[in-house]
Amino acid sequence: MNRWILAYDGYDPETEGLREALCTLGNGCFATRGAGPESSADGVHYPGTYVAGCYDRLAAEIGGRPDDNADLVNMPNWLALTFRAEDGEWFDPDAALSEDRLLSYRQELDLRRGVLTRLVRVRDRAGRTFRLAQRRIVSMDDPHLAALETTIVAEDWSGRLQIRSALDGRVVNAGVERYRNLPGTHLIREKPAPQSDPELLLLRTSTISSKIGIAMAARTRTSVPAESAYLVDDGWAAHDLDVTVRASAPVTVEKVAAVFTSRDRVVEECGQAALEAAARAGGFDSLLERHTIAWTRLWRRCQLSVDHVEVQRILNLHIFHLLQTVSEHSVDLDVGVPARGLHGEAYRGHVFWDELFILPFLTMRFPEIARALLMYRWRRLPAARRAAAAAGRRGAMYPWQSAADGREETQRVHLNPRSGRWLPDHTHLQRHVGLTIAHNVWRFYEATGDVEFLAEYGAEIMLEVARFFADLAVYERSTDRYRIRGVMGPDEYHDAYPGRDEPGLDDNAYTNVLAVWMLRRALDALAALPEERCAELQERLALTREEITRFEDVARKMYVPFHDGVISQFDGYADLEEFDWTGYRGRYGDIRRLDRILEAEDDSPNRYKASKQADVLMLFYVLSPDELDDVLRRLGYEHGPALAARTIDYYLPRTCDGSTLSSLVHAWILAHTDGDEAWKIFLETLFSDLADAQHGTTAEGVHLGAMAGTVDLVQRCHAGISTRGGTLRLEPRLPPAAGELCLGLRYRGHWGIDLSCRQDLIRVALRPGAASPVHISYGTEDIEIQPGASWQSHLRNGKPARRGG
Ligand code: BGC
Repeated sequence: MNRWILAYDGYDPETEGLREALCTLGNGCFATRGAGPESSADGVHYPGTYVAGCYDRLAAEIGGRPDDNADLVNMPNWLALTFRAEDGEWFDPDAALSEDRLLSYRQELDLRRGVLTRLVRVRDRAGRTFRLAQRRIVSMDDPHLAALETTIVAEDWSGRLQIRSALDGRVVNAGVERYRNLPGTHLIREKPAPQSDPELLLLRTSTISSKIGIAMAARTRTSVPAESAYLVDDGWAAHDLDVTVRASAPVTVEKVAAVFTSRDRVVEECGQAALEAAARAGGFDSLLERHTIAWTRLWRRCQLSVDHVEVQRILNLHIFHLLQTVSEHSVDLDVGVPARGLHGEAYRGHVFWDELFILPFLTMRFPEIARALLMYRWRRLPAARRAAAAAGRRGAMYPWQSAADGREETQRVHLNPRSGRWLPDHTHLQRHVGLTIAHNVWRFYEATGDVEFLAEYGAEIMLEVARFFADLAVYERSTDRYRIRGVMGPDEYHDAYPGRDEPGLDDNAYTNVLAVWMLRRALDALAALPEERCAELQERLALTREEITRFEDVARKMYVPFHDGVISQFDGYADLEEFDWTGYRGRYGDIRRLDRILEAEDDSPNRYKASKQADVLMLFYVLSPDELDDVLRRLGYEHGPALAARTIDYYLPRTCDGSTLSSLVHAWILAHTDGDEAWKIFLETLFSDLADAQHGTTAEGVHLGAMAGTVDLVQRCHAGISTRGGTLRLEPRLPPAAGELCLGLRYRGHWGIDLSCRQDLIRVALRPGAASPVHISYGTEDIEIQPGASWQSHLRNGKPARRGG
């Protein structure tokens, strides 16, 4: 097995959607699914292309109610290319498969170079054999370019071969079965004009309501002289290229596409820009060379290796898809990170809280990308302030789902495909998304030491979110506690109390505890600023002494519910019924979508102690044991390892992992106590997209949070790196199966920290040439490593050996 190759032998229409999502190529600006160039959306194939940040909103009737819906727009298909013998049928792998004419089919994704290759042998109905080799890239070097090279060999015939290369703008958003009743036509179809250069095609269009101008140009060249005909229709332009082929002599067709939108910078008019870019682009090989150099540079910054080839291959796949969704090319685009990447249309390309799982890896490799994702949030602070004001609150209330302008994009109803019923969707009550954003700002600051960012942008986010939560918390005189009512926690299967009409739950422990932590950190952020900047910010935000006193008071007296010696998911959780896990597993097998199963039975998870995903347990993921203990201790509640162990044991069997994020969090938490079980769950999480563990969901887009989260788990959990409190701490917990773990990191302006860890040894080296030494803390030791020097310590079973133990 090769740690850089994802290979598929044979063609399987059943799993083609999954393969397309996993073979998506992108560069942070745009991405194209790994669909065959000859395919169009037909239930098996879905050749989607998505440009980061290009959303369009259409009025819709959802579940019988007028609503609107913002989609990440499926762009024209630049890839479209097919062929046939002059008097034969167009290449169609599905027909060939069913008529036994598909002789061989292999697809390979080279993760190291970002190249998707397809090798096919097929016979047409007249018995002529074609050998096809295709390579494609979406350039990581020039974010506007993509290229497809097709080599066709007529194995046992000679004659005329016809190739059709098109730009197809007749596409709609129809990638997700459940959304197909929603309007999906986002592109205006214009009739393209022929170009004076006969190799070029240009397709212009624009989105309907957001009016984003889009232009795609393509240059198609053949290695032998071709007769070319121009074909056109509304929203579609094509070249038919006729060439003469001789048996066994290869013919190569090279298509280079340029993609521009009116959102791009340094562009006067996107049509002209696309035409010029396609015309002046080099050939496939020269584009490939530059693309490979760009990927080599990225991989150099992503050093992370384990001695386990399959695990390594999947980690590489996850890093690959992360960097194809957000990259240095997206830094200036003002985009967030869609939960399902630029790989499909699930969740309509919206941005959730998933950056919680994505930013830590980026921060220690590409701080500029992490910063850009935080800036996406900062620019939407005015929208979050308006949302808070509309809800009668101070500060900023970030939306659960975000897209172009930062308004709340969560749909108000959703479909249960099992019952066919449209149901109210209350997930917008997940106020904790704002806490995540503020938390991410602080972690970014801790890891980079970027005071300038904190002073200009980060502290403002933190203080406005703090304001919102301090206002949301209501003081209760009888208990001398603050309470937060009517919200949802991360567990989306609980959105109301059983039998109660109005949605929302009281005192979600995750929300309340994290709010306290965040209120404190917001004040720390102020304190971290130079005096003048701090005064300036307070003035700008009109932050008064009374408000700060309120932050402190809420942080001292927040209520956290407990029952049976564990933290309660929310107030009243104790009164819910136990769920019949064994019975339901026996009856349904996979019960991850318990919400749908129960609703179809006219029941609801709201009645049971049964969660979709880690909720209380998120506390053990987001906060370090010290941080969590500190919050609980100051609030006057029980804390410490015994409470943690009981709480973890309690919720693990009461959670059905209906989100891929859940098992990731469980693998993390268990690494502290039960390494074997943690490794098992880690492997399950690793395979969740590759093996489509959620049955069909990966075809609709990868789960980027879980993908990036698994990579981050290796660095922050297995290698035990944390950047809290301004030091680089090490607390390895290396599973034996990982073998030797090696990482290359950036920390607070330090380029090139190399860490390696085995069962018996941890070693940290600072590459020569660093401007200053790096400080790390290990157990009770504080160590200074000079540029060019290293430090090492013995481990016992992958963990720090206790002194004298
Ligand atoms: C999860 C959320 C997550 C979203 C997008 C949902 O299934 O419950 O926590 O943010 O998917 O990944």
